[in-house]
Amino acid sequence: MTTEQKVQELYFPQTKKREWDNGVIQYSTVRGDTEVLISHVPPHTIIEPHDHPEAQIGIVLKGELQMTVGQSTQLLTPLESAYIAPPFVPHGASNLTDEEVIAIDIKRLKDGEEYTAPPTYFLDIFKTRDLLPGMEVTFFVEDWMELMIANIPGNGGEMPFHKHRNEQIGICISGGYDMTIEGFTEKMEFGTTYFCDPKEDHGAINPKPEASKSINLFFPPRYNRLKPKASKVKK
Ligand SMILES: [Fe+2]
Ligand SMILES: [Fe+2]
Repeated sequence: MTTEQKVQELYFPQTKKREWDNGVIQYSTVRGDTEVLISHVPPHTIIEPHDHPEAQIGIVLKGELQMTVGQSTQLLTPLESAYIAPPFVPHGASNLTDEEVIAIDIKRLKDGEEYTAPPTYFLDIFKTRDLLPGMEVTFFVEDWMELMIANIPGNGGEMPFHKHRNEQIGICISGGYDMTIEGFTEKMEFGTTYFCDPKEDHGAINPKPEASKSINLFFPPRYNRLKPKASKVKK
């Protein structure tokens, strides 16, 4: 592998496929302390409760998933709610339907981060607004992270180049766009994931006629802050 390819692979890591005994198929990408998993859960499939040292954030892209974190259970519908399982909090899920479920999970364990969660472990939409003209974004927010669903309009819709102190990770979930980090460009399509460390220059443009959609995570939050709450689960 050339040095150029190695750098490209740092920002846009190769996907590793895992197949589980219960039929779940996962596509994993990793940079540093963070793993992004795209899971395909067949109909009538149970993911047994488990826990691990990493914090886990998740959101459903397709279908309906009954998710349990700690003592809370909620039906997750596409892009309408998210969950946080802090370190060592048990979590499991069931697809009780006749349709496949596709979900994204992010596992992360980084020195110095405190993995808070709301008492229910589930996050509702915090806010929806236009980040740039025509670029509608929806936010889910917790103290240590912000999840942003962004629509990039077609025919040249763009996120101009910029850099910031926040780490940023993103996954294309429909359509396609060209993502550039530090001069390295990848054609994003469903499931392609980018990892952008603090202060790395990045931007995106959608040259296709149709709009595209992506999920982007910021550590710590970039656009919104929660008001301090008295009751919060900490790990
Ligand atoms: Fe997990
Ligand atoms: Fe950014």
